[in-house]
Amino acid sequence: MSNAEDRPGDARTQLEVAAYYADPVQRLAFMRALFNRSARYYDLVNLVVSLGSGAWYRRFCLRRSGVRPGVTVVDIATGTGLLAREAVTLTRDPAAVIGIDVSEAMLAIAQRNLGIALIQATAEALPLAPNSTDFVTMGYALRHVADLHAAFAEALRILHPGGAMVLLEVSAPRNKILRAVAAGFIGKLVPRLSQFFARDAKARLLMQYHWQTILSYIPPDVVMNVMKDCGFENVTCKSYLDLFHHYTGKKPPVEHQ
Ligand SMILES: C[S@@+](CC[C@H](N)C(=O)[O-])C[C@H]1O[C@@H](n2cnc3c(N)ncnc32)[C@H](O)[C@@H]1O
Repeated sequence: MSNAEDRPGDARTQLEVAAYYADPVQRLAFMRALFNRSARYYDLVNLVVSLGSGAWYRRFCLRRSGVRPGVTVVDIATGTGLLAREAVTLTRDPAAVIGIDVSEAMLAIAQRNLGIALIQATAEALPLAPNSTDFVTMGYALRHVADLHAAFAEALRILHPGGAMVLLEVSAPRNKILRAVAAGFIGKLVPRLSQFFARDAKARLLMQYHWQTILSYIPPDVVMNVMKDCGFENVTCKSYLDLFHHYTGKKPPVEHQ
């Protein structure tokens, strides 16, 4: 691939990303390379974009979904482990949480930060046994996963009957005013602040790219339909500012299957 994503502000970036998305194999390679290159900025950029509230919000959503001491969690697309860290806080047991990600550089940071088991694998092909966990979680990665049906089918396979999938994601608000505010903050200010704090133009690029994926992301009702199509029941989505979405769905208990 050319290095379009290395050129801040290049209008062709969006088109090239779209082209990669057309092919799941290329998309995965693109994602892995992107997150490998930007892993060292990820936590800092995340702190900037969430104005420091990211850990609180992740913990709030997990607690609301029932993550507590005694349950097990598989955190897909765990990245540097920001969501997994909150799962460890709530379960109070690092052995109860497993992190999975395709990017080795993101996993290397998670390994430094957290004492949990980590596996390099894709959401679409999980190297875990059927019926082996109470929760599957995925934070801010729906936009990056090439095949949602395959990823949700895999999540359903590894969940215990009655277990739950919890997804956190952002998408551009439909309301024009909220959308303009989000575009100004996430699309313009955050990339500049990220470059300033990280002292590297690639941090700005990462955030510009993220805003493009947020803009083009499929709406919550479509995500919920895919969850239902894949066999999840009690599917819900709680949205905040029409920007942050907290999805949950349950694997049917044995008698429903
Ligand atoms: C935006 S980060 C999210 C990290 C973390 N979940 C959080 O809450 O901050 C997205 C992560 O998804 C991973 N990823 C993207 N596509 C993936 C796939 N198909 N399978 C597994 N991981 C994937 C990337 O490598 C990256 O670490």
